[in-house]
Amino acid sequence: MDKINIKEILNWRYTTKAFDSDKKISSENEENIKALLQMSPSSINSQPWHFIISSTEKGKERLAKGTSGFFSFNESKVLNASHVVLFCAKTDINENYLKHVTEKEDRDGRFAKEEFKTQNLGAKNIFTNIHRFDLKDAQHWMDKQVYLNIGNFLLGVAALGIDAVPMEGIDIKALDEEFGLREKGFTSLVMVGLGYRAADDFNAGLPKSRLSEEEIFTEI
Ligand SMILES: Cc1cc2nc3c(=O)[nH]c(=O)nc-3n(C[C@H](O)[C@H](O)[C@H](O)COP(=O)(O)O)c2cc1C
Repeated sequence: MDKINIKEILNWRYTTKAFDSDKKISSENEENIKALLQMSPSSINSQPWHFIISSTEKGKERLAKGTSGFFSFNESKVLNASHVVLFCAKTDINENYLKHVTEKEDRDGRFAKEEFKTQNLGAKNIFTNIHRFDLKDAQHWMDKQVYLNIGNFLLGVAALGIDAVPMEGIDIKALDEEFGLREKGFTSLVMVGLGYRAADDFNAGLPKSRLSEEEIFTEI
């Protein structure tokens, strides 16, 4: 694997507030974007997500239904982006779904023996039931897996030289209705606009700001 300059990428990326609507992401990078979304790790490989991806005017207009009213500060980011991804989380996790994931792992050659598959499914059920019943935080747990994907994604697209804006400022209810997500067992969480920064994006020229190393690290 080639070495990358991670600090350079971390400092190059920033939250893009204005996209150049004439610049479009290539089809090769579309495939890379899908790979980032699909290959993100998740607890017990649960992959409790779905992604709505749009690069068309019509699709972006539908996604912009989640950026009206109070959320209109995000609207132009959706409409001028080359591509937009709506990250959605599952709303239910149960044994049937875990079996479905485990069957796919089996087809992908993850289990040398049938008993490994049985053990694996058992472990998945134990972890899942801790969240469903003991902690009663199954939704929160699934949302966390999706957020992990978003973090992975933001760094990944930056490594591809693609600008991005993550948006929590979206109308979840409007988006869920627009795409019939709740009926399908999903709910929207975060939208990410992708593309290339506009020459006049004020945010591109601002210095990065993070809490100091002294404050955030304890080295022992
Ligand atoms: C989960 C998440 C949600 C965010 N929501 C919005 C948003 O709705 N609109 C926006 O302009 N920026 C949003 N941001 C951008 C943050 O304000 C930004 O990441 C932070 O200030 C650090 O700046 P940087 O990304 O430029 O390094 C969001 C960031 C994250 C990680």
